[in-house]
Amino acid sequence: MNSTTLKRQAGEYAAGFVESGMTVGLGSGSTAIFATRRIAQRIHSGALTDIVAIPSSLATEAAAKELGIPLTTLAEHPRIDITIDGADEVDPDFNLIKGGGGAHLREKIVAQASERLVIAVDDSKLVDQLGTSWAVPVEVIPFGWESQAAYLQSLGANPMLRIDGGAPFSTDQGNLILDADFGPIADAAALDQTLKSRAGIVEHGLFIGMTRDVVAAGLDGIQHLRR
Ligand code: A5P
Repeated sequence: MNSTTLKRQAGEYAAGFVESGMTVGLGSGSTAIFATRRIAQRIHSGALTDIVAIPSSLATEAAAKELGIPLTTLAEHPRIDITIDGADEVDPDFNLIKGGGGAHLREKIVAQASERLVIAVDDSKLVDQLGTSWAVPVEVIPFGWESQAAYLQSLGANPMLRIDGGAPFSTDQGNLILDADFGPIADAAALDQTLKSRAGIVEHGLFIGMTRDVVAAGLDGIQHLRR
């Protein structure tokens, strides 16, 4: 079974938590899209009624429109009942690294507005310590980005400007991403605060204490982990 199959299993399982009448946050990435597609199927089959959704990226918005999912905004629905999203790493306390697709700023806004954030992953994403196999994506404004790269270096990271198709990757907000490899992170909550306090850093991919629900698909089946 390859990782796409596991992502599909986790995403579709998590989509089963959505109930009629809910406002739903739609995550971004190759796992969350399976949840979004399953939600659309459930709407079109009549199993789910009275659903409105808030996408967490322009890519997800385009997919949701194509799938015929009714969309809304945080202005109209400031409280989201449930959001289903993916992650790049999940530690034993359910702290996360996200942003492999560069969507972590909108994802964090949507997650913060959510009563329940369900993270769907293939079980290779479960790690003992964040930073083990993934760099922390740091969204920076283009002005003076080099000084944020130097700052990340001063914190012990090896930052790389994310490149896409030969040019700097541009986020949905028109910002840049520095992928900051810290190695295993001893205190992710402290690093979260440190990164937040720096001007020029718009947001970073550490999601601390934001979820109590992880759906992990592996060769032995699907586990619903709760804290
Ligand atoms: C998007 O920027 C990310 O936060 C994704 O949710 C995360 O990178 C997981 O992506 P995959 O499901 O594609 O592995």
